[in-house]
Amino acid sequence: MNQDHGQDHGREDRFGSNPDEAEATRRDAGDAESSRASRGWWDRNADEYQHDHGSFLGDDRFVWGPEGLDEAEAGLLGPAAGLKGLDVLEIGAGAAQCSRWLAARGARPVALDLSHRQLQHALRIGGEVPLVEADAGALPFRDGSFDLACSAYGAVPFVADPVRVFREVRRVLRPGGRWVFSVTHPIRWAFPDEPGPEGLSVAASYFDRTPYVEQDAEGRAVYVEHHRTLGDRVRDVVAGGFRLLDLVEPEWPAWNGQEWGGWSPLRGNLIPGTAIFVCERED
Ligand SMILES: C[S@@+](CC[C@H](N)C(=O)[O-])C[C@H]1O[C@@H](n2cnc3c(N)ncnc32)[C@H](O)[C@@H]1O
Repeated sequence: MNQDHGQDHGREDRFGSNPDEAEATRRDAGDAESSRASRGWWDRNADEYQHDHGSFLGDDRFVWGPEGLDEAEAGLLGPAAGLKGLDVLEIGAGAAQCSRWLAARGARPVALDLSHRQLQHALRIGGEVPLVEADAGALPFRDGSFDLACSAYGAVPFVADPVRVFREVRRVLRPGGRWVFSVTHPIRWAFPDEPGPEGLSVAASYFDRTPYVEQDAEGRAVYVEHHRTLGDRVRDVVAGGFRLLDLVEPEWPAWNGQEWGGWSPLRGNLIPGTAIFVCERED
């Protein structure tokens, strides 16, 4: 959840302010550069992210995105009662809030994230969930280690090669395992990332996949976000070895009055903000 696609709307990215005084631009950014930028950005911004959003996320809830869709109601991972005893991998886990919810349902989650600082927040909150610091593109697990994998806005929007991540997820899943992940809804790419009325007019091409990059004075990326159209995401899921079971576009609920970066009740009532892909390993 971050960025303003390089359109001239100040330097308020999806997740908060840009303390790096970076220049926003649109240019290519490969896997290694994107990964390095994400690690640095999340290490520097984890404190602010958890401060600003920690109470909305809850220490042990499973929230799919700024709309507040809760797995306890959505059941996208399958019936909560069926989670007991499952080995679950949470990718881009941040402070591992979702993993704590899974553990409370009797699952055996592992929370993986690229950012050391995010995982320190997981330690601060506590619980028994194992934490792994690693890149989603190179998962440090044996083949067939997990029954289920999930991610709430973790890793997928920030990687240059999502198919590589999906293939890794497929490899570590057991046959028939589910992979459920949420990302910024692709349609948002065409709009300024602003919560107010200025965020309601198309300002860029939905079809332009050039990454959004914030870079320092030496031209080094300090934040990268990658865009895939809805069709790209479906093709990536299939190329990664999955069947797509459902594509969920949570509606903005009346109880939710919060603004989170470019997500707001105003925009949420008119255009989707989150896409959740429910996939199953194709055997
Ligand atoms: C928007 S936060 C979401 C965190 C958590 N899932 C939540 O809902 O609060 C994105 C997370 O993805 C992690 N991330 C970004 N790129 C990653 C990568 N290549 N591999 C693993 N984690 C990554 C970041 O460090 C960050 O913690």
